[in-house]
Amino acid sequence: MFWGYYISMIVFATALLEMSKDDISSTRTNKVILKDRKQRTESSRRWLIRQLNDPYVQKAKADGYRSRAAFKLMDIDEKFHLLKRGAVIVDLGAAPGGWTQVALKKIGEKGQVIAIDLQEIEPLPPAEIIQGDFMEEAVLEKLLSMLPSKVDVVLSDMASPACGMTDVDYIRIMALVELVYDFCFTALKPGGSMVAKVLRGGTENKLLQSMKKNFTKVVHFKPSSSRADSAEMYLVAIGFRPEKSA
Ligand SMILES: C[S@@+](CC[C@H](N)C(=O)[O-])C[C@H]1O[C@@H](n2cnc3c(N)ncnc32)[C@H](O)[C@@H]1O
Repeated sequence: MFWGYYISMIVFATALLEMSKDDISSTRTNKVILKDRKQRTESSRRWLIRQLNDPYVQKAKADGYRSRAAFKLMDIDEKFHLLKRGAVIVDLGAAPGGWTQVALKKIGEKGQVIAIDLQEIEPLPPAEIIQGDFMEEAVLEKLLSMLPSKVDVVLSDMASPACGMTDVDYIRIMALVELVYDFCFTALKPGGSMVAKVLRGGTENKLLQSMKKNFTKVVHFKPSSSRADSAEMYLVAIGFRPEKSA
C-alpha cells in the first residue's frame, strides 16, 4: 500500500505531533526553526525543517495535491503547453500521484491517463494505474496493452532513490531516460511530447543528439518549484518526428 508515501507522511505527522510548542518557534520572517529538545538525527532534523518551511509542501496540502511535485508539472505545462484537452498521457514514476492529478485536470473527461510506479498508487479515477517496474518487459507489455492508441505525451518523473554518489545517480537516471525515449518509438504519436527528469549536467550527449533528430525541439528546464539545491531538472522534447530509430 503506497508504503513509501504513507511512511513519509506518518513520519512527518508523528514528528509534528511529538513536537511541543517549545520545539518549534518562528523567526521574525516566519521561518520555522526547531529547538534542540528532541533527539533527532541531523538528516531527519534537516528534512523536517525543510518540510516545515517549504511553501510548496504547504500549498500542495491546501490545494489537495498528493505531492509538491504537482507544481513542477504545472510549471512545465505553463511554459510548454503540453497537456491539452482530450490528450492521452502516460505518467511514469507517478506515485503518490501529484502529476497524475495535474494531468487529469488539464485533459478533461475525454482524455486518459495511465500511471505507473514501483509503489502502489492510491486510486485516482479515471486514471488507470499499473504497479510495477517500467524496466521490466512484462510491465511494458501490460502498459502497451492498455493503451487505446498512440499517446500524446509521455511523462517521466522516475528516479531511483539517490545513493549519494553523483556519478552512479546520474548513470541510473540516464538509463531510465533512455528507456523512456525508446518507449516513444513504440507508443508516442507523431507530434507528441516527452518530459523526463534528469540531473544536473543534463542529458548525455549522444542521447541528446539522437533526440534532437527525432523531435522538433529539445530543451532542459528547471521549474521554479524545483528546489534550487536539488540537482534535478527536466528534459522536454516537443514535436516527435520519428524518421530515425533510437
Ligand atoms: C519523484 S517520485 C514521483 C512523484 C510523482 N511525479 C508525483 O507527482 O507525485 C519518483 C517515483 O519514481 C518511481 N520509480 C523509480 N524507478 C521506477 C521504475 N523503474 N519503474 C516505475 N517507477 C519507478 C519511484 O517509485 C517514485 O515513486
